[in-house]
Amino acid sequence: MSGDLSPIDKAKFVAARRAADMVEDGMRVGLGTGSTSAWLVRCLGEMVREEGLRMTGVPTSARTAQLALEVGLEVVTLEQARWLDLTIDGADEFDPDLNLIKGGGGALLQEKIVAAASDRMVVIADVAKEVARLGAFPLPIEVIPFGWPATQMLVEETLISMDVMGRTSTLRMNGPLPYVTDEGNHILDLHLTRIGHPRQLALVLNQIPGVVENGLFIDICDTVVIGYGDGRVEVRDINEGTVETDRIDFVETENLFGDLGD
Ligand code: A5P
Repeated sequence: MSGDLSPIDKAKFVAARRAADMVEDGMRVGLGTGSTSAWLVRCLGEMVREEGLRMTGVPTSARTAQLALEVGLEVVTLEQARWLDLTIDGADEFDPDLNLIKGGGGALLQEKIVAAASDRMVVIADVAKEVARLGAFPLPIEVIPFGWPATQMLVEETLISMDVMGRTSTLRMNGPLPYVTDEGNHILDLHLTRIGHPRQLALVLNQIPGVVENGLFIDICDTVVIGYGDGRVEVRDINEGTVETDRIDFVETENLFGDLGD
C-alpha cells in the first residue's frame, strides 16, 4: 500500500515516523495539524496500541483531535495539561535558523500557543519546505472577524515600511464564505514573496488592532526532521548544532496506510 504514496507523502511519512520515536513514556505531547502531523498521530496511535506507549496528546485543532481519538490516543486540552514536554508539528516553510511559516492549514493560533507551552518543538517536514529565506509561501495571519477589511487595510499599510517584496493580501475563503478558524476568526494570507526580517515583521504585525496572531514562528522550533521520498531522514537540532541522518523502512500496516489523507 505504501507503494501508492507519492514521493512527497513518503517524505512526510518518514519524517513523522522518525519524530514519533522522540516520544517517551509518560510524555505530554502537542499534536500538530496538517497532512504531515496526521502521519505522526497515526504512528503514535500504532505505538500506543502495539507497543504499550503511554502518552497524553494535546491537539492543535479539532481535526487533529478527531484523528487522535480515532487512533486511540488519550487526548486532553492544554488547560488540563498546562505544560508540555514536546510538540511535534508540520510547517509550510523553515529557514536555516529554523524560523517557520505556519498556518497553511488554518490552525496557526492554537499551534503557536501549544508550541510555546512546550519544553521542545520538533518540526516534521518534507524537504520541499526548506528555504533559504522565508516568504514564498503566503504568510497567514489570524484576524478578528469584526471590521476585518479595516484590519486588512492597516496590515497592507504597515507592509509598506517592512522589508518584504510583495504587499498584497487575500481573505482566505471556504467556498463562498470566509474561512473560520477553530477560534472563530478569519485568516488573511499575505503575499510577501520574500521576508527580509521575519522577527521584526512578526512583532509589528501583532501590534495591529484586529490581528490575533501571525504565522511566523521565531525562535520556537528546536529541531527539524526532514523527510525524503526515498526513506532518508535528516534530524537537525539548532541548540546542539547537530545533524543526524537515518533511514526509515516503509512498514506496511493496514492501520497506517489504509486511510490516507489529512
Ligand atoms: C497548519 O495550520 C499548518 O501550520 C501546517 O502545519 C502546515 O500547513 C503544514 O502542513 P502539511 O503537513 O500538510 O504540509
